[in-house]
Amino acid sequence: MSAGNPPKPLGCQVLAEIPPDYVPAVQRIEDMFTVTTDKLKQITEHFVSELEKGLSLEGGNIPMNVTWVMGFPTGNEHGKYFTLDMGGTNLRVCEVVLTDGRGKYEIVQAKYKMREELKSGTADQLWGFIADCLGEFLEERHLRHSPEKVPLAFTFSYPVTQPSIRNGILQRWTKDFNIDGVEGHDVVPQLEAALEQKNVPIKIIAIVNDTTGTLIASSYEDPLIQIGSIFSTGCNAAYMENCGSIPKIKDKNLPPDTPVAINTEYGAFDNERKVLPLTPFDGEIDRASPRPGQQTYEKMVAGLYLGELLRLVLIQLHDTNGLFKGQDISRLRQTHVVDSSFLATIEEDVSEAMGDIFNLFDRQLGIKPAPHELKIVRYMVELIGTRAARLYACGIAAICKKKNIESCHVGVDGSVFNKYSHFRERAAQALREILDWPPDLKDPVTLHSAEDGSGVGAALIAALAVERSDGSLLS
Ligand code: BGC
Repeated sequence: MSAGNPPKPLGCQVLAEIPPDYVPAVQRIEDMFTVTTDKLKQITEHFVSELEKGLSLEGGNIPMNVTWVMGFPTGNEHGKYFTLDMGGTNLRVCEVVLTDGRGKYEIVQAKYKMREELKSGTADQLWGFIADCLGEFLEERHLRHSPEKVPLAFTFSYPVTQPSIRNGILQRWTKDFNIDGVEGHDVVPQLEAALEQKNVPIKIIAIVNDTTGTLIASSYEDPLIQIGSIFSTGCNAAYMENCGSIPKIKDKNLPPDTPVAINTEYGAFDNERKVLPLTPFDGEIDRASPRPGQQTYEKMVAGLYLGELLRLVLIQLHDTNGLFKGQDISRLRQTHVVDSSFLATIEEDVSEAMGDIFNLFDRQLGIKPAPHELKIVRYMVELIGTRAARLYACGIAAICKKKNIESCHVGVDGSVFNKYSHFRERAAQALREILDWPPDLKDPVTLHSAEDGSGVGAALIAALAVERSDGSLLS
């Protein structure tokens, strides 16, 4: 281990406690998943240059999508806006009323379960389902037959090219979505056609990424926020860039000092595989995904893949070392049977007996681990969770370095960030190592649980867009 690296938390202890014939295999996995300070710094350096490249005319792996959200809210935004968030498991529809004063709003919301099949069905099925849910929501709000179209901001959290704030051409599906006929197309006319067909009186006035919504909603409450980030099924961040620093929009002749939100889409970082410490498990996850070769960074970090990583590691330990000897591991062999909340629960159980971990395995996988197996499992989870948090910090540190931000708040939303209790402190430790903060300095860049990006954030973005268009967006 090179100087300056944090001590391995459990490693030595675990290795001393497990049967000796497991030690080489466990150590091999430990080596694969340990990211040293030097490596973090090297990744961050490359990340900074890739962020720059994404803003250039030629472009690069990281899309750095210009969102046309120009600047932060002032607190004077007003009006009633509807918002729609198409997440992986739910559709969330909100009616948001922005009232007087910074950080003030009223919200009414409904959630609709998205069937798993929709993720790999047809575009018509997807848009038809969304139009039905929106129709139902308007019905409840007594607006189903409104003569005026209701303005809606659509949080669509996939990489899109935006010719304007109300257009979004899908670059590619991420998070294992795989719906034909949408990539390369503008999602706004597709959804509007379905709304038209079902006579749902809605006009889409803004396409919003979840990270941009998070950035705007968080800054509405906390002016120190400079980065909005999501750590959930996927992983990404947005920040404000000056138009003058974005060569690819030079032809728009915008005032160089005007800020515009950039949705980095940095889940695509290092698709060229130059610097990330990929393991054979990452390779397996990539090959099994609907878009191999894409979202390399996201696949090492985000919630959708953490359970898969653990599953593959445990299967390898079973096949090579006899972990869970004599047990039926057929359930463990099913893809996605383990999700990120499984890892969070395992890390919560720090007791000697590890009863919660035992019960989890018994209940969900039909496996009754022996005491030494519980120790190995918990250590594997710690390695996977720590690697994710440390790599996650590289993206945030890279934005800080690129923008010369020495101190700021980062608004972070997402189930993994909010529910995986060790994540925040591990990412904070990694930021400290990457950015070389002296030991006596309080963390200058801190991660905060974000405000509601796809509700109030999207509504604020709609209000800002309407204001900029002098109301023409509403007509
Ligand atoms: C998407 C981003 C999104 C992130 C978090 C990624 O897979 O490409 O647009 O912000 O997930 O939801």
